[in-house]
Amino acid sequence: MDEWRTIIEPFRIHSVEPIRLTTRDERDAALREADHNLFRLRAEDVLIDLLTDSGTGAMSSEQWAGLQRGDESYAGSRSWFRFLEAVRELFAFKHVIPTHQGRAAEKILFSALGGPGKVIPNNTHFDTTRANTEFTGAEALDIPIAEALIPSSRHPFKGNMDIEALRAALDRHNVPVVFVTVTNNSGGGQPVSLENLRAVRAVCDEYRVPLYLDACRYAENAWFIKEREEGYADVAVGDIVREMAALADGMTMSAKKDPLGNIGGWLALNDDELAEACRNLLILTEGFPTYGGMAGRDMDALAQGLRESIDEDYLRYRIRSTAYLGEALDAAGIPVVLPVGGHAVYLDARALLDHIPPLEYPGQALAVALYREGGIRGCEIGTVMFGLRPDGSEAPAPMDLVRLAIPRRTYTQSHIDYVIEVCRRVRESAAALRGLRIVEQPSALRHFSARFEPL
Ligand code: F0G
Repeated sequence: MDEWRTIIEPFRIHSVEPIRLTTRDERDAALREADHNLFRLRAEDVLIDLLTDSGTGAMSSEQWAGLQRGDESYAGSRSWFRFLEAVRELFAFKHVIPTHQGRAAEKILFSALGGPGKVIPNNTHFDTTRANTEFTGAEALDIPIAEALIPSSRHPFKGNMDIEALRAALDRHNVPVVFVTVTNNSGGGQPVSLENLRAVRAVCDEYRVPLYLDACRYAENAWFIKEREEGYADVAVGDIVREMAALADGMTMSAKKDPLGNIGGWLALNDDELAEACRNLLILTEGFPTYGGMAGRDMDALAQGLRESIDEDYLRYRIRSTAYLGEALDAAGIPVVLPVGGHAVYLDARALLDHIPPLEYPGQALAVALYREGGIRGCEIGTVMFGLRPDGSEAPAPMDLVRLAIPRRTYTQSHIDYVIEVCRRVRESAAALRGLRIVEQPSALRHFSARFEPL
């Protein structure tokens, strides 16, 4: 590749979706209507939607062509075999169980493996993984390395698991499975090194406990390994992904992230008996084992997306464009989790709004302010998302962050420049921002539907 300073989007735009510009008054009204919960907004009232990178990416022309190839046969469709082949090219597990998205794979696996008295360690559970674990009565234990909880620490693999903490958990608890999330979504989109994965594997072998990957951002994780881990600069990303997968006994996948799908997922594993139990649950809740929760056309779009996901020109652009936003915010004096993660920039709301105590939700206050100021929709990842315990009590989350997730291949640099301008403006008026209180909430996953009132 030629060495240019400007890393361009390695695609051109083929179909466009208009953005409706709104006024501040309109956004104020929309916020009141939504009870200050950005999940309750109508998408057409959002200018730049950074709520999630999940299912929000742009498919390629070849993926759209894949939709036309979709074979909707109930059993044994061509689409299923094309999908299976593409999955196995990267993740060579014996059994692949297709689901409609990641949490369906989690629900099935944890129904089979979880239960009261069990503890499931993870570098950090994401919201649905935690909820699905706790729903079975098991405990979801987060054991990231200490640097993961220090937003300003520049550790190159802040997604790593704390090996001593893992050992302690295995000594003390009944652990049916160990999970590693790549990249670590709750902790800043930070990668896990192969060295750490190998160490986790060795401990799992010692205790004879299976290791699973929550693998939805495998390609971004592999790119970081290529860039940062010694000995991998010249290894193809696909080979790095295969090396990651070979260390695990199974995986759950939300195909709405790196595989560039708008929907889809799977559970993959080597254990025959467990696979049988999981397939039985699949038929109850998702569908027949050769489509699970997906249409044939979705599986074709994913077969193509999986291959595009490890394209190195795409990944170079992808990781660079996220860093571009994070570095600009950092330079503007806005506290962000560093190094910048793969799929998102995480603003440190607790640091920026240090006058708002965690139980008045500084992350939510910042997310609301970004929307009010410039129509940007981010996502609180903090005390609103993780502060409510299964017993109904409330405690501050380890961090109060606002995630600006970057949908794949969707926004251009000028959109991101606008986001930077809005963030700068919010920073100038940060001292005047107030917290919120929750007036209504469900008993789990409250961030999706809680109603707030400004204080
Ligand atoms: N695991 C991780 C690490 C995730 O980030 C997600 C979803 C899931 C599992 C569940 O997958 O949505 O397909 O059911 N994360 C989205 C997000 C929703 O915004 O980060 P799903």
